[in-house]
Parts: sequence; structure tokens; C-alpha cells
Amino acid sequence: MKILLGISGGIAAYKTPELVRLLKKAGHQVRVACTRNALELVSRIALETVSGEPVLFETFTPRTHPGVEHIDLAGWPDAVVIAPATANVIAKLACGLADDFLTTVLLATPAPVWIAPGMNTRMWEHPATLENVQRLIGRGVGVIGPDSGELACGTSGPGRMSEPSVIVGILEEHFARPRPLAGRRVLITAGATREHLDPVRFISNPSTGRMGVALARAARELGAEVTLVHGHLEVPVPDGVVAVPAGSAIELHRAVFEWKDRADLLIMTAAVGDYMSASPAAEKMKKEALGATLTLQLVRTPDILAELAQSGNDPSGAGTAPRAPRPKLVGFAAETAGGDESRLLELARQKLSRKGCDALFANDVSIAGAGFAAETNQGVLLFADGHVVWVPQGTKDQVAASLLESVVASLLL
Ligand code: C5P
Repeated sequence: MKILLGISGGIAAYKTPELVRLLKKAGHQVRVACTRNALELVSRIALETVSGEPVLFETFTPRTHPGVEHIDLAGWPDAVVIAPATANVIAKLACGLADDFLTTVLLATPAPVWIAPGMNTRMWEHPATLENVQRLIGRGVGVIGPDSGELACGTSGPGRMSEPSVIVGILEEHFARPRPLAGRRVLITAGATREHLDPVRFISNPSTGRMGVALARAARELGAEVTLVHGHLEVPVPDGVVAVPAGSAIELHRAVFEWKDRADLLIMTAAVGDYMSASPAAEKMKKEALGATLTLQLVRTPDILAELAQSGNDPSGAGTAPRAPRPKLVGFAAETAGGDESRLLELARQKLSRKGCDALFANDVSIAGAGFAAETNQGVLLFADGHVVWVPQGTKDQVAASLLESVVASLLL
């Protein structure tokens, strides 16, 4: 594998030649990009000697080859690890700042990124740092450590960069994982649509987009190229995922039809509004003019999933006309089954046949831990061939991983 090691200016930078050595020993190609501060703490010559490559840290250098160096380097690695990751580099990455060579590469790379934080305990435990780390985790960045122990500042506590051998072990484990979706393209919809009545009012629903975003992350982990068509989200889009914003059901319909031919699998997690205003007002409706009551005329939105399923069917019905290729389709159904599993399954069966999709995941939003805004989910995954997989309660990441595992095994292998 090609690994880019990013080094920022924490004292643990002195351990990085050993990290390079271990990565090379494990058979990887390693290049190093660092901040200027890092070079106060570790010798450039040492890094260049162990990596066998020049250490890169300057954004503006005389051109020695065609192209733009930080963009070329950003496209090179299979994985990026920043060790040590200081509070400063973590904050920059969380905000998308790119004010030196390393952070510019980090913003431009499509490769998965790990950080191995190394800093003083107070800096690590500062709410700003913890919040930034959470943001990065939400975007799919891996966090290695930090360990607890003696720190360079003479104190003891969490903040020590993980040992180089541990960092290498975690990367190796990642590379060893199967990637059944490598080379496959997955289109996922997520979040709530907003159907505007006028420029300042809309009809929507409580979807946060967590489930769809968890699926996008899980599909990335399995090696897929992922596009996320999303309405309103309350969580960030994971790194490495192409985000296509779509505010309303009509916009989501347009975006999905635009992207569907480039997808092997479409998972419709979005909570798409079923009705929209028949005649949204171009200007703000005035209460004074409307009076005490307001009657809205709503019309049905297009059923994207059903339309897509139909688009793959033989229009002659005789089995003679060629089928339009379409991605495998997985729908979602939020049902109120009052905790009754057989009723949930029956509702899922009805919806699957009505929609004509290949699989449908139904969850019972009337039970605790399976609702829209919950951190967890559970439910039943039903396939068009009739087989059923019950997914037990877990975090949305865990549910996403087991859903994808079943979907990949049944629809894509
Ligand atoms: O019909 P219902 O809204 O219960 O179906 C839910 C499933 O259908 C979800 O996968 C949702 O993304 C999709 N859907 C759609 N177009 C709509 C409404 C829902 O594709 N207009």
C-alpha cells in the first residue's frame, strides 16, 4: 500500500522515523509530508533516509515537474496517517483550513485518513479539541489513541501518541479487511426533504440523516465509491463521499435520476415528503392577508423508488422488450407497528411489493431506540425473494454494517 505519513509539531514527532521504518518493513511505500514545526522536533534527514523519499513541507517551491505538487501528492496514497496529530492540525482538519503544505494535501485527498493525536492532557481534554475529534469521526476519519501515560511536559494522563507499532497494527488490520464493494458504485439518499409553501415556510419531517450517513460510511469502508444525495442533514457528510444536496422531493427525484445510471446499488434512506404544495407562493404569504385559518392544497410528490423500480421493468410486460438497466434498489420504511414484529413484517411485505424494489428495511418507530432522531435503530430487512433478516438493536453504524453485509451478499455478489 502507499501510505502518506503527515507529521505535525508535537514532541512525539521524534518517534516518526521508527514509524516509517515499521511501515516500510510491513511492505508499504511511505512518503512524508509535515508542518514546519514538525521539523523542529524530528530530523528531515532521518525521515528522508528511512523513507527514501524527499520530505515535503513547502507549498511554494520552484517547479521541478509539471502539475501541482500538493494535488499530485493528495491523489497518491491509499491511506493517510497523521502522527502525531496536534490539537492545531486536528482543528484545521475539522474546519477545512489549508494554510500550509500538509493541511492542503489533507483537504485535497480522497484517501481514508487516520489521526494519532499526541498532546498535553489539558489540550486533549479541551472541549474544542474533543468537539473537533467528534466532527472528524463523524466524517469517517479514524482516530488511533491517544494513550494515557507520562507526557513530555512532566505530567501524566491521556494525550500520549500511540506507539508506532500500534499505529502500524491498526492500519494493517484495515488493509486486511475484505472490500467486497471495491469498484462498485453506491448511491444513497438521506435526510429530510423540505416542501416549501413560500420562501420562509416548509413542510418537513424529523429525519436527521443519521441512518443514511452511517450507510454511506459503511459502504466506503467496504470499498465502494459512494454518492450521497441528501436533503436536510443534522450530521456531517463522511469524508470521501460525493455529496449532492437536494432540498425538496422534486430536487431529490432529479438528482437520483441523474446519478442512477452510475450506480450498482441505490439505497433510499431519505425521508422524502409525500406531499408538496400545489402552488408554492413566490413571495412570503402575509398572515394579515390570510386571516385566521389557512387551507393548503397539497399534491403527491413523485414516488422515486417506485418509479425507479418500474424503470427497470419490461414495458411490454411480455418479457420480450429489453429491460432498462437499473441499480439494485433498497427502500426504507418507517412504520408504526406498536412493537408487534409480525405486523411490522406484514407492513414491510406490502410496501416491498407496492414499491417493486429488491429489498426493504422496515423499522418500527413506535418502539424506543428505533425512531427518527434516535442514535440506535433495529428492524427487519426483507428481500423480494421472500427471505428475511432481523437486525437487532445497535448503533446506526452497527445497523448499517449488518444491513450492507446482507444486501451485498444477496444482491451484489
Ligand atoms: O411510501 P413510503 O414513504 O412509506 O416509502 C418509503 C421509501 O420510499 C423510502 O425508501 C423513501 O426514501 C422512498 N420514497 C420515495 N419517494 C417518495 C417517498 C418515499 O422514493 N416520494
